[in-house]
Amino acid sequence: MRVYMNQKRIPAHVAIIMDGNGRWAEAHGKERYEGHIEGVHSVKKCIKAALRNGVKYLTLYAFSTENWGRPAEEVNALMELFCKSVMDNTAELAGQGVRVRMIGRRDRFSERVCHHLNAIEEQTAAGEKLTLVLAFDYSSRDEIKSAVRSIAAAVAEGRLSVEQISEQTISDALYTAEIPDPDFIVRTSGECRLSNFLLWQASYAEMYFPSVMWPEFDENEFDKAMNVYAERNRRYGKL
Ligand code: FPP
Repeated sequence: MRVYMNQKRIPAHVAIIMDGNGRWAEAHGKERYEGHIEGVHSVKKCIKAALRNGVKYLTLYAFSTENWGRPAEEVNALMELFCKSVMDNTAELAGQGVRVRMIGRRDRFSERVCHHLNAIEEQTAAGEKLTLVLAFDYSSRDEIKSAVRSIAAAVAEGRLSVEQISEQTISDALYTAEIPDPDFIVRTSGECRLSNFLLWQASYAEMYFPSVMWPEFDENEFDKAMNVYAERNRRYGKL
């Protein structure tokens, strides 16, 4: 978070749970996947608004480890939409100075999806204005479990002692190792839960739960969220 005299406080890292695509589609007499397609437009609007506001990290919860449990038709539609969105937008993102990073498991995607994940990371690696972190096959408990496994392995192999394990050791073993903790977490659709998203990293994050569905979350809604954050008083447990 940066503060300038007479300027509003801007969160360095905004993380968003993009919820409500299905309900939005249903309310408009459309199929669920049409809600996801509309959701991609909101993603693009938010990237623009994040760049304009000077946000440095924007994390989007795109697919949870639990989402594999949805009907195969919807899972496939989401994977296709993801591949298409990557192919259509990589050049524009690179041109805007956006670096894309993926967090989550990498062992359960098809070869085609893996190819697109790697391609977007490689082709946007030079971006310095905004890091767009896509949480894809991600859940926080799964992330913490794999961090604990890697720390336990380091101890078992004698590379680390139990006493050396610090909070930083744990942060460094997470997918988000080089990413600062989120300052501000937003979840659309009025649901007030974190649903297995950045549980370790969210320790001091401000939270905001606007009632609009994700397809309705546009640049104006993003600016509104920035104003909500600017008015919060973060004390980190101090007075
Ligand atoms: C939650 O709405 C949304 C998702 C599970 C998928 C989000 C994906 C996108 C917006 C598109 C792909 C993203 C990128 C980054 C290219 P829901 O289906 O749970 O809605 P509901 O709760 O109303 O059913």
